Amino acid sequence: MEFATVFCLILSLHCLLKFLTSGSRRRLPLPPGSMGWPYIGETFQLYSQNPNEFFASKVRKYGSILKTHILGCPCVMISSPEAVKHVLVTRAHLFKPTYPESKERMLGKQAIFFHQGDYHAKLRRMVLRVFMPESIKNIVSDIESIAVGSLESWEGQQVNTFQETKTYAFNVALLSIWGKDGVLYKEELKSCYYILEKGYNSMPINLPGTLFRKSMKARKELAQILAKILSIRRDMKDNHTDLLGSLMRDKEGLTDEQIVDNVIGVIFAARDTTASVLTWIVKYLAENPNVLQLVTEEQEAIRRGKCGEEKVLTWADTKNMPITSRVIQETLRIASILSFTFREAVEDVEFEGYLIPKGWKVLPLFRNIHHNPDNFPAPEKFDPSRFEVSPKPNTFLPFGNGTHSCPGNELAKLEILVLLHHMTTKYRWVVYGGPTQWNSVWPLCSSPEWFAHQALPQIEDTNPRHRSVCNANCIC
Ligand code: HEM
Ligand SMILES: *[C@@H]1O[C@H](CO)[C@@H](O)[C@H](O)[C@H]1NC(C)=O
Ligand SMILES: *[C@@H]1O[C@H](CO)[C@@H](O)[C@H](O)[C@H]1NC(C)=O
Repeated sequence: MEFATVFCLILSLHCLLKFLTSGSRRRLPLPPGSMGWPYIGETFQLYSQNPNEFFASKVRKYGSILKTHILGCPCVMISSPEAVKHVLVTRAHLFKPTYPESKERMLGKQAIFFHQGDYHAKLRRMVLRVFMPESIKNIVSDIESIAVGSLESWEGQQVNTFQETKTYAFNVALLSIWGKDGVLYKEELKSCYYILEKGYNSMPINLPGTLFRKSMKARKELAQILAKILSIRRDMKDNHTDLLGSLMRDKEGLTDEQIVDNVIGVIFAARDTTASVLTWIVKYLAENPNVLQLVTEEQEAIRRGKCGEEKVLTWADTKNMPITSRVIQETLRIASILSFTFREAVEDVEFEGYLIPKGWKVLPLFRNIHHNPDNFPAPEKFDPSRFEVSPKPNTFLPFGNGTHSCPGNELAKLEILVLLHHMTTKYRWVVYGGPTQWNSVWPLCSSPEWFAHQALPQIEDTNPRHRSVCNANCIC
């Protein structure tokens, strides 16, 4: 009794103190917006309409900074380049990345996405040195072999573009993670990873038979396979330039668990994103024959410039594809693969005259920025030529910005270019499939999970048109 009273007293004192000390800030108003019903907030509205429209109508109503309440979280949504710069770049330390507990468990708590500070900086160094241009230069021809193999396997068939490009992106990711070693366990890894992935969007209920349970089990198996590869690596004692080599190299070494979490994390970050972009590109090129024509001409010119039997692509070639690169940029803009990301205020933050209370989520709305006519006139039009002029800072953020921006962006662009090179110079395709379907599974307080929910135009490679090996203007 006595104890309880004292306890209550201390607790209320604590709250009072907190209230008093935060008093000055508390006087700032919250951003405009509506919070909806208690607890459920505006979740129902979010589910009952196209999420794009949910966000866009709010921005129209309240402006570029607004509050709402979705899926149990009070949130502030931001959609001006200035605000995004503050949250992701200049005041990034005040806004930590945040994911639901179940997603962290599935990807692994030690994965790069979930951290800030020294541990994050160390991981980022290890990841960046593998994916920076100087490093990926050396794997262009390996990526090319994977691309050629994929295209050959699609030849003359109707395939599901998204499924097939996922396999392509998975194979490129494995190549960058452990070079050719991974081939050993590739099929086992693939099947475990696919089970893990299925559980990612499931309800996090850990009971026998649930997807969640199955995927946690697959995760364990994945970790065991990775442990085998790690021990083989340790015995080899060579310097490897791939991701595994990088994660194992430093003296301040990582534990096996940390390595495993980050390997799974990179596969996750690399696969569906890249495959989504490729899927959209296939669709946009089919719908815009004039753009396809320009891309094809650019790629054929590169092919013609190569003589003899060894027609391998080089890094320099991929840096000489301005038209194709603009198609990628425009696709990244219009499809906005990652519609938004999540952060959480680590303390009360004053922001453009408003208060963002500690613990609130902050959502930079990339898609709204990419579809704002002030940033991109006639935003719904697919027009790669708009990228002949560089976009203004923080108006084009397909890879984010700041300390958590995508370290894999160069690799993603490279593997897309390489596939497009062979696709346009050797194949013609037909697109099947309906308009964009929003999947009913919408992210909880996370974002990458709906990478998988893009429209899936089907692709049929008809009449592979292998061109003559050398053209007149090639001196061979
Ligand atoms: C076109 C394909 C891709 C897109 C659109 C994309 C987009 C993004 C975005 C927007 C972020 C930042 C998220 C945030 O700030 O919350 C991010 C982070 C990340 N991406 Fe990518 N990504 C792609 C491909 C890749 C690839 C191929 C890799 C691996 C090689 C990769 C690895 C990562 C990692 C490890 C992070 C976390 C970085 C950190 O937290 O410091 N991504 N990606
Ligand atoms: C591995 O790298 C270290 C440090 O960069 C170097 O001293 C060593 O000679 C390298 N070993 C091999 C086998 O290349
Ligand atoms: C990221 O932010 C910095 C600082 O505001 C800016 O200079 C840069 O252009 C931004 N990056 C992008 C891709 O907009």
